[in-house]
Amino acid sequence: MTNETAPRGIDPSVPSPARIYDAMLGGKDNYAADREVVRLLTAMYPYAPDTAQENRAWLGRAVRYLAEEAGVRQFLDIGAGLPTRENVHQVAQAVDPDCRVVYVDNDPIVMTHGRALLVGTENVTIMEGDLANVGDILERAREVLDFTRPVAVLLSAVLHFFTDEQDPYPLVAEIHAALPSGGHLALSHGTSDIERDNSEAVADAYSQRASSALFLRDRAQVTAFFEGFELVDPGVVHAGHWRPLPGVEPRPVEQAPVYAGVGRRP
Ligand SMILES: C[S@@+](CC[C@H](N)C(=O)[O-])C[C@H]1O[C@@H](n2cnc3c(N)ncnc32)[C@H](O)[C@@H]1O
Repeated sequence: MTNETAPRGIDPSVPSPARIYDAMLGGKDNYAADREVVRLLTAMYPYAPDTAQENRAWLGRAVRYLAEEAGVRQFLDIGAGLPTRENVHQVAQAVDPDCRVVYVDNDPIVMTHGRALLVGTENVTIMEGDLANVGDILERAREVLDFTRPVAVLLSAVLHFFTDEQDPYPLVAEIHAALPSGGHLALSHGTSDIERDNSEAVADAYSQRASSALFLRDRAQVTAFFEGFELVDPGVVHAGHWRPLPGVEPRPVEQAPVYAGVGRRP
């Protein structure tokens, strides 16, 4: 942030996943401590910002697919992050202005900036919530979204903040149970599958500094989140290879080690 003053309740000296990611995307909603983490990660692995950008580009394509091809009009974006270019509501509402979007994040700075951005925006709600308490998120989302009609739940680059001990699989199963037939799950997840030499070291460096640790999973583990969903083509693949736009060459997989996929509840 330009003058580096933090809103009340926000500690700028503790790097947060939302602000680190914002810095990697070239945003302005971050502090020196966040940029220092990006500097350190980039020194270890120069493609850290490319990884964030490839993930964000996938999210845009996934939302466009969901709105345009799957006909979904309701989105629940958990771990939404700071506002950036091509926000989920902008992509969805470009297809149909009646698309309804609920953003959820557990970082208070996302609330501050999100609420400021969304003043006067139709059909968009932002709420503070922790994916660890997904039942509470779903209950509050039901006040805004109609779960008897298709809802797409987005878990983009958020599940890797849960360790195996924290066991995120039952949380995703709870989402599955809440969705009607035709509901969708779109998720992406950092992996050590692709960039074996660097990924674990980068994740360790991240975990030592940021307010949340980073826990990478392999393709089989990421695919397991889709239990009970039918995977949409091309399945769980490197994010850049998930329905790339015509004429756009995905980054080489080792320059963006993220898996992504979209599933439909039958
Ligand atoms: C890497 S950013 C991804 C942002 C966006 N989903 C995207 O893919 O472009 C991860 C976001 O998840 C949020 N987050 C991390 N753990 C969370 C949790 N347990 N509950 C809700 N949000 C969480 C962070 O605050 C951050 O904004």
